[in-house]
Amino acid sequence: MALKDVLKDIEGYAEIVNEIEILKKYGSDYASSKGNVEKIISGLHPKKIYLKLSDIIEESTSTRTFRFTSKNGFLPPFQAGQYLNISVDIDGIRTSRPYSISSPPNQTGYYDITIRRVMDGFVSNYFLDELKVGDELESSSPHGNFHHNPIFHGNDLVFIAGGSGITPFISMIRETVDLNLSSRHIQLIYGCRSNTDIIFQNEISVMANKFCNFSYTLVVSDPSPDYIGKIGFITADLIQEVVENPSSKTFYLCGPEKMYSFCLKELEKLDIRRSKIRTEVYGPPRNITTEPGWPDEIGSEDVFSVSVKGKNNFKAKASESLMMSLEKSGINIPVLCRSGECSLCRTKLISGRVFHPEGVRIRKSDRKFGYIHPCNAYPITDIELLLQM
Ligand SMILES: Cc1cc2nc3c(=O)[nH]c(=O)nc-3n(C[C@H](O)[C@H](O)[C@H](O)COP(=O)(O)OP(=O)(O)OC[C@H]3O[C@@H](n4cnc5c(N)ncnc54)[C@H](O)[C@@H]3O)c2cc1C
Ligand code: FES
Repeated sequence: MALKDVLKDIEGYAEIVNEIEILKKYGSDYASSKGNVEKIISGLHPKKIYLKLSDIIEESTSTRTFRFTSKNGFLPPFQAGQYLNISVDIDGIRTSRPYSISSPPNQTGYYDITIRRVMDGFVSNYFLDELKVGDELESSSPHGNFHHNPIFHGNDLVFIAGGSGITPFISMIRETVDLNLSSRHIQLIYGCRSNTDIIFQNEISVMANKFCNFSYTLVVSDPSPDYIGKIGFITADLIQEVVENPSSKTFYLCGPEKMYSFCLKELEKLDIRRSKIRTEVYGPPRNITTEPGWPDEIGSEDVFSVSVKGKNNFKAKASESLMMSLEKSGINIPVLCRSGECSLCRTKLISGRVFHPEGVRIRKSDRKFGYIHPCNAYPITDIELLLQM
């Protein structure tokens, strides 16, 4: 039987054909509006945006907020908790880092990002020491899934922040307070190393006093002698002490890798289901050679040869992410999260071996066919790569 005859017998087929004929004659069909939809979406969420630094605000001894306006008058809308991946050129090296937007989404005139200095950090120190009001930078549109969705996550939320990991939360808290979203209940547990270097301390305390649906617990691990308050880390015991009925809440966890791994284990001790824990890890591990599974025979100063199909070979340090080594040799690949989560940098490893720390999200099929995430992969032999450019 011919295909035409088979289709004729399918219920509703004749009506659809008739509808297509009417659209062809009198109106526009989907094919003609497809380009327009794409145009609207890429207008709202362009791949690149161009920012101008309009203000620098001192937040604490180690931290500043950088306020950016748009160079061409439009900042894409975002959800509180999302980040920008900002590109910079430092000493001839083009690189980038993700930074959460700390201003609330209801503030549409600018984006704030708040950066804490990382010891020997390449980009954080550049921002804090070199950037001046008026400087222009290129960035991604806002990205990331670390935002609140009341339908899936409910409205009873516990935010666990470590150090600079407070930034996505301050955006969510500011939004909640500014818009008086009274159905949302937020409990913030904020872990800091020092009580003299707490980001947003005054503003958070004022909001907790004013807004009855928001409460705040500070925990300091290395306090000065005059500090009065909770001392230590964010442990299961502490969470149980301050959060009523933890298993009924949705937890959000954000901070540097060490704090993140520690707190995740503490939440597991409380039998919080993994689906009730939303996470954002702030970058790669501080020292990859101390991560579980790192091969004992490879030292942090060991160097391997990287050959990239169609490009020059270069040497890469075992303890430096492959992404950073690629950038140092002048090769830039697509990038967003720089922490192994978003998959944008996935690259084919043709030969050799790399080390991925725990938590890097690589699809099963990617593992099978030898794809890696260079932003959180470290060479442990000579390797050969094929880039998707
Ligand atoms: C989604 C996302 C959002 C982020 N938002 C913010 C933000 O709002 N504010 C902010 O200050 N940072 C934020 N970060 C971290 C930021 O992207 C950089 O990792 C950080 O600024 C350090 O970069 P660097 O170039 O100075 O250090 P690098 O030169 O990359 O690293 C130097 C050394 O420090 C270690 N290191 C890297 N990052 C950290 C860290 N965060 N803490 C401790 N050690 C580290 C590295 O492993 C390395 O050993 C975010 C990261 C992610 C993934
Ligand atoms: S940039 Fe997101 S996984 Fe590498």
